[in-house]
Amino acid sequence: MSRVKLRQREAALAHAYRLNTMGELAVSLTHEILQPIASAYNNARAGIHFLEMSPPNLDEVREALCCIVRDTDRASNIADRMRDHVKKTPSRRELFDLNQALSEVIVMVRSATAKNRITVNTHFMEGSAPVQGDRVQLQQVVINLILNAVEAMGSVEGPRELSINTVQDRTSVLVAVRDSGPGIDPTHLERVFKPFYTTKASGVGMGLSICRSIIDAHGGRLWAEANEPRGAVFQFTLTAGREEL
Ligand SMILES: Nc1ncnc2c1ncn2[C@@H]1O[C@H](COP(=O)(O)OP(=O)(O)O)[C@@H](O)[C@H]1O
Ligand SMILES: [Mg+2]
Repeated sequence: MSRVKLRQREAALAHAYRLNTMGELAVSLTHEILQPIASAYNNARAGIHFLEMSPPNLDEVREALCCIVRDTDRASNIADRMRDHVKKTPSRRELFDLNQALSEVIVMVRSATAKNRITVNTHFMEGSAPVQGDRVQLQQVVINLILNAVEAMGSVEGPRELSINTVQDRTSVLVAVRDSGPGIDPTHLERVFKPFYTTKASGVGMGLSICRSIIDAHGGRLWAEANEPRGAVFQFTLTAGREEL
């Protein structure tokens, strides 16, 4: 197969995979989008109430309308994010705030973590330099790592802890996603990245393989280790700042 053909296949596969992950995410995002809609509804009701008073309380009506504008903005931002994830966009190289991008991801997976009674801890390096890369693709990587962690912890009896850390040195940023699940057999730490390797009944086994190609394409490294005292930790590095990729 020619290089171009191979690229096209890879892109199609990555796209199909994004759609599949979207299915899992849809539940989470639907929940998120319902909140601003419910809030807009309440503000509209309040606006009507203040308008029907005699005399009408126009200050309160204005306040309610401003809240509705804010609520609908929030709802459309969430919808934009969903569209970005589904769209087959060519990879972009932009400078962006990693902590901000990670915070968005945590919101996107919130209903999955809440439903599974998982405690989420974050330790983000403060004042870190922007990283360069495709923001949506890198968010996709973290979403995949988190959903894997959530699935891994779904069956454990003990504490269910997810932690997301970022550490920066002069030239690179390290992102670590830790869980307190059953962990990975030490002899399988590399195998989990192979395409179609899955231990789940309805798994596809493409998630980690795609994550690794995204991180490779960014000039970084993604690997798995055992977490202490239990569970798995997936870590990746990215180049910090404006250096050429
Ligand atoms: N956090 C984790 N803890 C334990 N095992 C994991 C974890 N993440 C991934 N794995 C293992 O790696 C396999 C491949 O993961 P992935 O490529 O995302 O495919 P899928 O999630 O469809 O199985 C999983 O089936 C699981 O066995
Ligand atoms: Mg997966």
